[in-house]
Amino acid sequence: MILVTGGAGYIGSVTAAALVRQGREVCVYDNLSRGYRDAVPEGALFREADLIDSAALKRTFAELPIEAVLHFASYILVAESMRNPAIYFDNNVVGGLNLLHAAQSAGVRRFVFSSTAAIYDDAAYEPLTETSRLKPANPYGESKLMFEQALEWYRKVHRMEAFVFRYFNVCGADGGRGERREPKTHLIPSVLEAVVGKRESVVIHGDDYPTADGAAVRDYIHVKDLVNAHIVSLDAPAELAGQYNLGVGRGYSVKEVIAAAERVTGCRIPTVIGPRRDGDAAVRVSDPTLANRRLGWRAERTLEEAVKSSWEFMQRSSAEALTNGANPHAPYRASSARP
Ligand SMILES: NC(=O)c1ccc[n+]([C@@H]2O[C@H](COP(=O)([O-])OP(=O)(O)OC[C@H]3O[C@@H](n4cnc5c(N)ncnc54)[C@H](O)[C@@H]3O)[C@@H](O)[C@H]2O)c1
Repeated sequence: MILVTGGAGYIGSVTAAALVRQGREVCVYDNLSRGYRDAVPEGALFREADLIDSAALKRTFAELPIEAVLHFASYILVAESMRNPAIYFDNNVVGGLNLLHAAQSAGVRRFVFSSTAAIYDDAAYEPLTETSRLKPANPYGESKLMFEQALEWYRKVHRMEAFVFRYFNVCGADGGRGERREPKTHLIPSVLEAVVGKRESVVIHGDDYPTADGAAVRDYIHVKDLVNAHIVSLDAPAELAGQYNLGVGRGYSVKEVIAAAERVTGCRIPTVIGPRRDGDAAVRVSDPTLANRRLGWRAERTLEEAVKSSWEFMQRSSAEALTNGANPHAPYRASSARP
């Protein structure tokens, strides 16, 4: 059985559903603080519990035949972490360590961790490799790096088979599962909200970066490609454990993402140029060569496919909300779209 922490959230639920479809036994462990019960796939066990609750973790490992852990559960909002670092260190570091300790005590070796490109030095322009300089610019990134470092010692000392995946900008949906974060903080869902009139315009934060069109550039990876890497990691030989960048290896600017959304939806999207945001890098693109070569994994889907799947997911969610009597286009006070 695979324990999927954070399996009621965006990436965890898409992964849990893919594993169930493959016929694997899955238990989702999630406290629903940022997730949705109905995102947990049918056919998976569900434990509504917190990583901070060591006793609940211990019981889970004692009661279930867990062979591997996919650890997605985390707080993930950079801006929130700048306002309240404590909850990031408590949840992502202390909670993560509780999980790691419980897994190791129960003899579970395979441990796959969702890390992030936010651990790298933002000053870099060239594609980031796994050996690029590490220098988180916010408590979120720092909390993920701290957990990576603890995991590395468990690998050395306890022979934990630790696969660390450093995700770049995850996007897209897989059928009925996608990003439901409210308010929308990531670029593609924010852009699509402007299409349905839920926000007046999309703010482009800075158009004077030293990039081709002046807007910030990011590497957008489709969630289905990301999930495939996790599936590969479950059966990969132990000697392949290590840190891997998961990205496409090509960057798109905020303006290019908006243009892709206009092509997919057939609508013109109003934009406003705003100032740069503190701590935003001009370019953050992966070099995914290591994962390509060692794991035989490669991102295959295009930005346009990702936008299209998000658009379909958004329309489907709106239709369901209407059926349930909610107004999916209720006015929304526009915050900023985060590239
Ligand atoms: N979304 C991205 O673009 C992105 C990029 C880089 C890395 N990541 C990493 O991927 C992972 C998943 O991200 P996501 O976008 O699916 O986030 P999400 O917020 O949609 O899901 C996280 C889930 O974890 C659960 N959770 C949080 N704290 C918990 C706790 N203490 N105990 C139990 N459950 C808890 C939440 O309820 C939620 O269901 C995170 O570790 C994140 O750092 C995401």
